[in-house]
Amino acid sequence: MNAYRRIGAAIVECAVLVSLVALGVTRASAYPPAVGVLGASKNCLACHVNNGPWKVEEDVIIDILDKATGRSLKQTDGTFLIAARRGELKTVTTIIGSRTRPGTPAPYRNAWLYVDPARIADSSSLNKFAPGWSVNLPMSCRVVGDVVESYPGAHTTALPMTVRAGEDAPRETAMELQVMLTRGESVKGKPTQGMQGSYFRRTVRLRVEP
Ligand code: HEC
Repeated sequence: MNAYRRIGAAIVECAVLVSLVALGVTRASAYPPAVGVLGASKNCLACHVNNGPWKVEEDVIIDILDKATGRSLKQTDGTFLIAARRGELKTVTTIIGSRTRPGTPAPYRNAWLYVDPARIADSSSLNKFAPGWSVNLPMSCRVVGDVVESYPGAHTTALPMTVRAGEDAPRETAMELQVMLTRGESVKGKPTQGMQGSYFRRTVRLRVEP
């Protein structure tokens, strides 16, 4: 449960999310934890509509950087690869945003979640991250405005996440990174109203190095 307490402490912009996490699993709706953690929805579009103005893929920024080197973990096939030795603490930074383009507004708030889809339905565990890996912050929601050196001038959020492969982590495993760029105010209890959002999904592979 420690990981979940840390999620609550780290997410200051999404007050409702914090209170949801504090309440535990009693309310099965709203925000990234609704996927897998507080409910069995498969992805954000179970509730939200894909109606945001961020439609041009080249303008959308979804990147994962190795925090120590600043290098992108993106592979040529578009997936991301996080590799670490067993027991090693590895910190990566999740970058989400939009390049500036005339006529396309900046996102205001980005929200994301790392989840192993195979674990969503498993009600016996609150942990929906890749099996055998521990993580301090598998999801968040953040107001745009973090400056990222590799994306000068873009509207981005950047937040670190630390992972560690435990004894039982498989050599290779994969999970999803679910992302929404959003703007506007959401209406309480009505995920299709008020807020505009664009949904994206990426594959993140995890590898235990010898
Ligand atoms: C089970 C339904 C459900 C799912 C699944 C869900 N949400 Fe939501 N979400 C809501 C509702 C309802 C609201 C409106 C606010 C409220 O009722 O508290 C909301 C609001 C939001 C907001 C607005 C926050 C704010 O402060 O204005 C963001 C951002 C968001 N969701 C992102 C996500 C992302 C990203 C995912 C997927 C990883 C997701 N949601 C999955 C139901 C859901």
